[in-house]
Amino acid sequence: MVERERVMAGAAACGAGEWDPEFLQRVEARREALRQELASLPWPPEAAVLEIGCGHGHYLAAFAAAFPGQFCIGIDLQRGRLEKARRKVKAAGLKNAVFVAAEASEFLAELPDGVRFGRVIVLFPDPWPKRRHHKNRLLRPSFFNDLAGRAATGADLFFRTDHQPYFNEVAEVLAGRADWEIPADQSWPLERETVFQAKAPRHYSLRAVKKSPSKT
Ligand SMILES: C[S@@+](CC[C@H](N)C(=O)[O-])C[C@H]1O[C@@H](n2cnc3c(N)ncnc32)[C@H](O)[C@@H]1O
Repeated sequence: MVERERVMAGAAACGAGEWDPEFLQRVEARREALRQELASLPWPPEAAVLEIGCGHGHYLAAFAAAFPGQFCIGIDLQRGRLEKARRKVKAAGLKNAVFVAAEASEFLAELPDGVRFGRVIVLFPDPWPKRRHHKNRLLRPSFFNDLAGRAATGADLFFRTDHQPYFNEVAEVLAGRADWEIPADQSWPLERETVFQAKAPRHYSLRAVKKSPSKT
């Protein structure tokens, strides 16, 4: 079973009220290992850059090269893709990019205190087009709740997808939230085609900005 299936299967089991002790032990062991790995990273005092579902790391490696003063972290469920991403930044001699195997909500929950992100990038997340699978989409209201305490005031969210209904849904979710706004300036700091972007006939992009708590 790949990591995604393990996480999803576990979540489903818990959702059904089947609290399999072995499963719970495995989850706790995985989360403890993640907690330790995240605690060992050289987090800077300033806000970092996070890419969720970074795949082979094309975008984040280019981003880290373009912004050498920014600490960049990419996460993905698929370890094989992350290995390729690591090889890419190593070959480029980049010291400001790391890649961690993690599921997004577990990652956000297990970060050390004080870690904040100034840029959060999500490129071509799995669209889960069937209605009964929409619950598996990454950018759902619960994700924005998990992210709330980790996105710094003024943080940018950069989202891109080739699936227009998913794009519309995310825009709607953001428009309904008091803690994010969609600014008129929709420019991105960097363009770099990803593996999935190269396959997509067209795509839709969105930039949102985290508001200050006083405005929420
Ligand atoms: C369609 S691929 C896009 C990869 C890359 N961003 C690109 O544009 O080429 C989606 C990626 O998100 C990862 N992913 C899916 N759900 C995730 C989650 N909950 N947490 C972390 N990564 C996730 C998948 O493993 C996969 O590599």
